[in-house]
Amino acid sequence: MKVITHSPEMQQTALALRAAGRRLALVPTMGNLHAGHLALVRLAKQHADVVIVSIFVNPTQFGPNEDFQTYPRTFEADRAQCAAAGVDIIFYPADVSEIYPADASITVVESALSQTLCGASRPGHFTGVCTVVAKLFNLTLPHVAVFGEKDGQQLRIMRRMARDLHFPVEIIAGPTVREQDGLALSSRNQYLTPAQRAQATCLRRALTEAEQRFAAGERNPQCLITAMWNLIAAEPDTRIDYIAIVDDETLAPVLEPITRPALVALAVWVGQPRLIDNTVLRP
Ligand code: PAJ
Repeated sequence: MKVITHSPEMQQTALALRAAGRRLALVPTMGNLHAGHLALVRLAKQHADVVIVSIFVNPTQFGPNEDFQTYPRTFEADRAQCAAAGVDIIFYPADVSEIYPADASITVVESALSQTLCGASRPGHFTGVCTVVAKLFNLTLPHVAVFGEKDGQQLRIMRRMARDLHFPVEIIAGPTVREQDGLALSSRNQYLTPAQRAQATCLRRALTEAEQRFAAGERNPQCLITAMWNLIAAEPDTRIDYIAIVDDETLAPVLEPITRPALVALAVWVGQPRLIDNTVLRP
């Protein structure tokens, strides 16, 4: 396994591999890898013969009051996990300037799908994500890129970006990996106290509640949202950012009875960390 820290070397390596007829997959991450990331690596291996994992805590996708400074940076552990998982190349930019020249002035702005959910509560977040992933595509030149369903809005925006900007990259979705009690794996779970860790299962429990009511015939989005809201608000350390039901394609709120696939998405602070989860309802 090779670790590449300089952008020109990454791009030269990718060009050479492509010229040799190899099929490349990119799994973009911010590091602090867990079983969810490693599941994406396994999926990538099924679609390509060279798997590149990028590890870069991208400053431009964090808001001013968010956790950029304290985001866990655990490169040695990440490297060991990548090696064990059969990753071929880690792209680990040595410095932010490898990705953002000091006077960088070009960004990628998505202006429709990012209006709701995390895009609404984290202004500029998806501009940061689109900009960094566009750069990573240009530096690693992948045939396929794998993203987790856990970040449902991010996944849909990545598909839209690849389509709208004509990136010759197939976007592949990996299912959300969960703890036994349903909590979606996340780097931010480590900040939960034991009591909050128990409460944090309310995200998945709320989604299951919505799935069950939907299966029983409930089609009114507001009724489903209220049921989820009550379940989550019953936990003492939770503070709800949003609970939303949006059209799975446009991500616009579903105001009518649900007649098309709908994305149910939640963002909830449980103590300090803000956790997200989602599911899709299919009529
Ligand atoms: P990060 O949060 O490190 O996540 C990297 C990838 O892992 C994303 O595609 C995310 O959806 C996926 N992932 C996270 N938790 C998961 C879980 N429990 N099950 C399955 N997949 C999971 O998302 C980012 O980084 C950044 O925004 C990035 C795309 C790297 C751009 O900076």
